[in-house]
Amino acid sequence: SNPEKMVSRPPVVTIMGHVDHGKTSLLDAIRKTNVVSGEAGGITQHIGAYQVEQDGHKISFIDTPGHAAFTAMRARGAQATDIAILVVAADDSVMPQTIESISHAKAAGVPIIVAINKIDKPGADPNKVRTNLLQHEVFVESMGGEVLDVEVSAKNGTNLDKLLEAIILQAEILDLKADPDRTAEGVVIEAQLDRGRGAVATALVQAGTLKTGDIVVAGDQWGRVRALIDDKGKQLKTAGPSTPVEILGMQGTPGAGDRFAVVKDEAQAREIAEYRQRLAREKAVAKSAGQRGSLEQM
Ligand code: GTP
Ligand code: NA
Ligand code: MG
Repeated sequence: SNPEKMVSRPPVVTIMGHVDHGKTSLLDAIRKTNVVSGEAGGITQHIGAYQVEQDGHKISFIDTPGHAAFTAMRARGAQATDIAILVVAADDSVMPQTIESISHAKAAGVPIIVAINKIDKPGADPNKVRTNLLQHEVFVESMGGEVLDVEVSAKNGTNLDKLLEAIILQAEILDLKADPDRTAEGVVIEAQLDRGRGAVATALVQAGTLKTGDIVVAGDQWGRVRALIDDKGKQLKTAGPSTPVEILGMQGTPGAGDRFAVVKDEAQAREIAEYRQRLAREKAVAKSAGQRGSLEQM
């Protein structure tokens, strides 16, 4: 893309950490919503994408599940992001999925900001968290490192402004830019078949500007964008870089983590999608033949 057309874009921030350390609660407190209360068993089982605005700065958030079963979602979340917020409960300290989240962030090469949560709890020990993090090579400022850390309470809303300031500061250091005029592309966060609305793909636009009427290929699916809906349910005409958005109008549901791109017309879109569907079918056939083969050898 044309370097002269690059403009600042909001940071994409992924919330990661061990199960129940308060990732969704923290986002709820920032957004003044209550997603946690609607979750089955209080366990996040999918990736959510939201955008907030603080002092004129937009920030896009991706919430990930902390349950051990959802490693792939955490890895995908880390890959689509600019900054990782590592949520560590101050009463529980560093746990297995805290360590896993650190390795995803390091593998993706994204800076970490530590949110030491639940400081309202009687057993909270923020310094233990900082010390435990040293063993995993996360060096916060008070330990002589460069990683920003903020003590927060999602429950009481303590220091949420400080956390947002740390994000804005980190984003300024990263100097994030994108060309809003180029062909739109990005990544599918999740997709489902909705009774009334048909295929709904939640996607993050990473470059360019997605518009109603655009022809999109996402993984092995394609469609003409019928509507773009933001995380507050508002219909958008366009979605620029770093915007999480629901795309309506896909012919089927692409896979979570699939890339999407705008193409020039329906014929090209159909051709690419059908080619990818054929490849997927051939791969599935080869795999089941392989499984039969290994059974015959037994
Ligand atoms: P998963 O997505 O399932 O990994 O959990 P999570 O990290 O999103 O945690 P969640 O927001 O579901 O919170 C887990 C529990 O901790 C809930 O009962 C919250 O009410 C509680 N909790 C979260 N933040 C705080 C906090 O700051 N203080 C206290 N006391 N409780 C909190
Ligand atoms: Na939870
Ligand atoms: Mg959650």
